[in-house]
Amino acid sequence: MHVLIINGSPRVKKYSNTDKILEKFTEGMCENGNTFEQYEVSDRNSWNDMRKAFNENKNILIALPLYVECIPGLLLEFLETVTPKNDGSKMAFILQSGFAEGVQLRCGEAYLEILAGKLGCEYKGCLVKGNNFSIRFLEEKDRDKTTLPYKEMGREFAANGGFDSDKCRKFTGPEIFPAYIRALVGFLFKTAGKKGFAKMAAGIGCTKPLDYRPYE
Ligand SMILES: Cc1cc2nc3c(=O)[nH]c(=O)nc-3n(C[C@H](O)[C@H](O)[C@H](O)COP(=O)(O)O)c2cc1C
Repeated sequence: MHVLIINGSPRVKKYSNTDKILEKFTEGMCENGNTFEQYEVSDRNSWNDMRKAFNENKNILIALPLYVECIPGLLLEFLETVTPKNDGSKMAFILQSGFAEGVQLRCGEAYLEILAGKLGCEYKGCLVKGNNFSIRFLEEKDRDKTTLPYKEMGREFAANGGFDSDKCRKFTGPEIFPAYIRALVGFLFKTAGKKGFAKMAAGIGCTKPLDYRPYE
């Protein structure tokens, strides 16, 4: 099987968590001789080639991050430029996000199923997984540990041509955290999290406090 992979993140490849996830995923997917070609929507210069590849390939995998509970606008902008297929093509998705609970990705997942139909493709499922905020900040060894489980999902995809299996459904992890974990996470966000975000902001040149309200 040859797979066209589109990284739907607006972040450039070097900084994209989706790209790091795809690195491991494709390792698993290619173990049995499968091949792929990958494009990034963040690289507008490749859109003509990507559109051509979309027309020519019958196995399409779109991997994307959740941005503000939605599909990144840049990906939709690209998809608006393609012609729907109706040639027996298959389309699957990897939908990943920062927050860990599966429930917050379900609306996006439902939308992607509709999108596959609108693009004239047979929907082959969506791998749903959160808890990926930190990937791009990790050193290579820790990053590999975080993304390694996607290698197994690559094998699953190769075996089934999609994500419609119990293993893939379980991969999401908890749909919603129990109340005590939600309370703990809330507390951590207000304390250590707040400090961490302030440090991160200072690191990229922010000189005002994060709750600064100049227009109040
Ligand atoms: C502008 C923006 C909006 C985001 N919105 C959400 C969100 O609504 N829910 C969530 O869980 N993660 C959200 N995230 C986190 C990303 O989904 C997460 O970090 C993802 O791994 C980014 O992948 P990428 O680096 O390939 O773009 C957001 C990140 C950014 C930059």
